[in-house]
Amino acid sequence: MLVNMRDLLDAAKSGNYAVGSFSVANMEMVLGVLKAAKELNAPVILQIAEVRLKQSPLEIIGPLMVAAAENAETPVAVHFDHGKTIEKISEALDLGFTSVMFDGSHLPLDKNIEETKKVMALAADYDAAVEAEIGCVGGSEDGSEDIAINCTKPSDAVRFADETKVDALAVAIGNAHGNYKSTPKLRFDILEECAESVSVPLVLHGGTGISPNDFVRCSKTGIKKINIATATFDMVEKTVRDCYNKNKIKGYYDLHAAEIEGAYENAKRHILIFGTDNKA
Ligand code: 13P
Repeated sequence: MLVNMRDLLDAAKSGNYAVGSFSVANMEMVLGVLKAAKELNAPVILQIAEVRLKQSPLEIIGPLMVAAAENAETPVAVHFDHGKTIEKISEALDLGFTSVMFDGSHLPLDKNIEETKKVMALAADYDAAVEAEIGCVGGSEDGSEDIAINCTKPSDAVRFADETKVDALAVAIGNAHGNYKSTPKLRFDILEECAESVSVPLVLHGGTGISPNDFVRCSKTGIKKINIATATFDMVEKTVRDCYNKNKIKGYYDLHAAEIEGAYENAKRHILIFGTDNKA
């Protein structure tokens, strides 16, 4: 069933676990994630980022994601990731997304607060939840930029949460989008300080390549939503390639099944690590 992300994060807070937010680009990925959610009786978030709309147009993938969530057997929120423009954020809300992210992390804090408040006002008309980001998560969602990591200042998190009243706050603690060039060293000292200073659920971007132990530690230290994108795309591509290499793809529908399988395996692995199984 389609639910508000706020409810999923509240439950994650009480239950001391984190919810996986899986980026999707087509119907096969949506089906794979929801197959894992059903099998493990897990709540999940389906998301797509604004930079990905050049491959998957919002007016086509958006209704597909919402319909898939409505027909799902476990609670599913539909989230617009890394919204950059009010136009696209509004479009996502009109299509029935139950949460949106406004990414003003590149802006000075005052401006980020000001713009986030505008998105809060807009989302309120739809009762949709809002995520924002402070500090700078490294890399970029589509690999087109190599943005430097700028760790979140806990005092900024306090001010930002107080002034904007956002529903979820993405923090930068040494995490980056895409495949890490070396093993990530997360700043748990910063995360602990943020988690102690604010009550808003925190979000970990750049989930691909983070170790299971670090995921679990994050989920027990204020992180209630974990974003996974590259791992899904890589797993789908690898599964398809392996099937071709093993001569298992004889036609289009074998390709379709291999894509679903890749997204399913990836979502299943993460749901089990995040402790979201049997939390539906
Ligand atoms: P990865 O591509 O590193 O998994 O990051 C996903 C993400 O944070 C999407 O917002």
